[in-house]
Amino acid sequence: MRLLLTFVALCLLHTSTAQPYGANPLEVASKREWQKKVRPAVMEFFQQEVYGIVPPSQPEVDFHIIDEGEAFGGKVKRREVEMTIGGSTKALILIYLPAQHKGKVPVFLGMNFKGNHQIAADPEVTISDNAPRGKELGTDPERGAAASRWTVEMLTEAGYGVVTIYRGDIDPDFDDGFRNGIHPHFYAEGQTSPYAHEWGTIGAWAWSLSRVMDYLEKDNDIDHKHVAVIGHSRLGKTALWAGAQDSRFAMVISNDSGCGGAALSMRKHGETVAAINRNFPHWFCDNYNKYSNNEEELWIDQQGLLALIAPRPIYVASASLDDWADPEGEFLAALYASPIYELYGKKGLTSPTMPAVNTPVGDGHVGYHLREGKHDITAWDWAQYIKFADRHFFGR
Ligand code: GCU
Repeated sequence: MRLLLTFVALCLLHTSTAQPYGANPLEVASKREWQKKVRPAVMEFFQQEVYGIVPPSQPEVDFHIIDEGEAFGGKVKRREVEMTIGGSTKALILIYLPAQHKGKVPVFLGMNFKGNHQIAADPEVTISDNAPRGKELGTDPERGAAASRWTVEMLTEAGYGVVTIYRGDIDPDFDDGFRNGIHPHFYAEGQTSPYAHEWGTIGAWAWSLSRVMDYLEKDNDIDHKHVAVIGHSRLGKTALWAGAQDSRFAMVISNDSGCGGAALSMRKHGETVAAINRNFPHWFCDNYNKYSNNEEELWIDQQGLLALIAPRPIYVASASLDDWADPEGEFLAALYASPIYELYGKKGLTSPTMPAVNTPVGDGHVGYHLREGKHDITAWDWAQYIKFADRHFFGR
């Protein structure tokens, strides 16, 4: 396997040794070569060595609508859908749609950190049993605490729906040897934890976003051809991996995803592969440990992950005070993935210079901005995503 990958690498990736940090622009001779040979090898690398494969035996997934109602004084319709995985794991999909919208609604789909009830101060949202509660028993479990990160009113006023699920409903975010969450539904007989090339938590989260997409395809109110998958930070890594594997996502947005997301690992700037594997041993597959303090051995850096999304529009965003996520490494990965977009006749990033703060770049299929401020997703970030989606989805 490794030999084959190396052979394909040598034959097909005409990398230039003059590039900094050992990560290079992806230079492939033709679209055909990319599609037939290089892309499958890049995909296989990320599956086997980084995020892990989804095990072959798939459990059943069922959906049913459990509640519908109004929010934001009637301006927004709310729908909650229960997704049941393998007969027992329950995850709630929360959907907000603009009430006045005519026809099918394009949506942003993303995972949330602390529970669906935190994305808006809506008293009707069901609180997951897995979600963190208020500090004292019986207090309000912080409804709307993450409202600034979701801007539901702004998005619905712009004509978009918001769809979210809580990460803890799919796989709680701590290392418990994969006993909780969805992994056990996929074990072969006698298996008790994922094999070295099988998925960790990010892989499971990404898989679940594709299952939400299965539901969205069936919901008559949703324009499933215009679903942008989005995520912040660890959930940005998740959105990228979901978008790379599932071409039904028409657009992919990475907000401050950093190491193991949009940032180039070989720069070793901010969070490193060793640090992420040490602090979050459950996120990636076990094979990824091979690259801790050994980034040069990565067959391809994270620009390969972004290139897997081509030709679908991708937006990478960083924040100026988020050195841990390596803004420049995120920008360079987007730049280095751009030649693959060009193979499809789509414009990527063209200027090799990092743009100034609060100055979005990319009038083609690859967008980038460096927001002034800290690690977060803000209304300003969302305003750029709305503009990007308006342009690509509707030519506005
Ligand atoms: C930590 C982690 C990052 C991650 C971030 C987050 O800082 O080191 O890799 O992106 O948490 O999810 O907020």
